[in-house]
Amino acid sequence: MATKILFEKLDIPGIETYEVYRKNGGYTSVEKALKTMSPDEVTEQVKLSGIRGRGGAGFPMGMKWSFIDKASGKPRHLVVNADESEPGTYKDRFLMHHIPHLLIEGAIVASYALGANLSYIYIRGEYMWIYKILEKALAEAYDNGWLGKNILGSGFDLDLHVHCGAGAYVCGEETALLESLEGKRGNPRMKPPFPAVSGVWAEPTVVNNVESISSVSWIVNHGGEAYANVGIGKSTGTKLICASGHIKNPGVYEVEMGMPVEEFFYSDEYLGGMIDDRPLKAVIPGGASMQILPTQYIFKTANGDPRLMSYESWADGGKLTGSGLGSGGFMVFNDTVCIVRNTWNISRFFHHESCGQCTPCREGTGWMEKILYRIENGLGREEDINILYDIQSQIEGNTICPLGDAASWPVAAAIHHFREEFEYHVRFPEKVKNKDHFRNEPMDKVRHLINSMAVS
Ligand SMILES: Cc1cc2nc3c(=O)[nH]c(=O)nc-3n(C[C@H](O)[C@H](O)[C@H](O)COP(=O)(O)O)c2cc1C
Repeated sequence: MATKILFEKLDIPGIETYEVYRKNGGYTSVEKALKTMSPDEVTEQVKLSGIRGRGGAGFPMGMKWSFIDKASGKPRHLVVNADESEPGTYKDRFLMHHIPHLLIEGAIVASYALGANLSYIYIRGEYMWIYKILEKALAEAYDNGWLGKNILGSGFDLDLHVHCGAGAYVCGEETALLESLEGKRGNPRMKPPFPAVSGVWAEPTVVNNVESISSVSWIVNHGGEAYANVGIGKSTGTKLICASGHIKNPGVYEVEMGMPVEEFFYSDEYLGGMIDDRPLKAVIPGGASMQILPTQYIFKTANGDPRLMSYESWADGGKLTGSGLGSGGFMVFNDTVCIVRNTWNISRFFHHESCGQCTPCREGTGWMEKILYRIENGLGREEDINILYDIQSQIEGNTICPLGDAASWPVAAAIHHFREEFEYHVRFPEKVKNKDHFRNEPMDKVRHLINSMAVS
């Protein structure tokens, strides 16, 4: 039986309510931490657990907590990142919707460990109904003495607020999020200083993902070592994977790190294989910013080793033959999917979401979208493929925040693995235009886009 950490209590009817959550052991980690452990002991257990942040980058959570500047004596904060805008990713929404008190419980314990008396949950603007669920759950937590002054007579005070963004992907980047939380335009900040030194209101802050913080109660209740015993190598614990696309059983799954991807894919308990048993063409394993992988690299690394659900297993072969577990948005494509169209759609997203602060990202994402659009619509030129590759390589690593990298990797990997599909588009424009899975755009719109091209 696979270990369940986040979904341990998910099947209990009514677990979204305070009463049922509490009756089933909810908030015991707050009691344990505040009554029997010092803040540093809590951090120590989180370090011992080996848990890595679940927002995408996989940074060790305990280490991040220990970086928070306690020496300056300034007020400290925890900010929970519930912006979740990466296409293909909907795990945080699922957690907050079905078991909101798990996040609040984790946030209280984490704030205690950090010495934070004022903390926030920053939620994306489109999640308005979840915002209301969290507001209700927060009110219940206050009413029952888990938030506010002198919690459980421990002398620890905490106010926890939920703040709604206005709906921008870039506000998931932690420093853009902090700007937005302060009421400003969500532009990423230059680092250093890092949030651990100067975060929200220029005070020491830790930003952690919803899934990361929701894991904290289990770690405190069972001990860091028990958590570290689940998983593989430096990828401990479990990970939520949101599966979508041409599979039999789409949905959010909690998997133990180390599970073979092939088993996850074909087992009836999980994805159940392909719909209608059509051939599998490609997978994006970790949300739209991660590299697309063709069939031969989905279940095996470039070295032929089985691919596992872990941070390490996807990262083989560098930028092109590997990919990333990222935010856990596992998207599956069958043989009817046009990779050029798919890449154009992804580029359109990143162009729309670029904050515009850095020239390579602001201009480059727009150029990529336009070139992909014309290739997709049968108006591309042979040299466009190399121009596209060139543009993505000049965005990567040249921007303040990693949104530029996120826009560049999918294009690089798509050209690397599916170059012949791009060539087909430019060499047989009439066939491309007539294919029934290509949308027929009005030609005047296509021509307008080409005429407005800033690159030639
Ligand atoms: C463009 C961009 C968008 C991001 N969106 C999110 C997001 O929606 N949720 C999230 O937790 N992290 C997101 N991140 C990562 C955060 O910057 C940060 O690393 C994370 O919230 C830290 O939490 P963790 O250590 O628990 O993973 C994003 C990063 C970038 C560059």
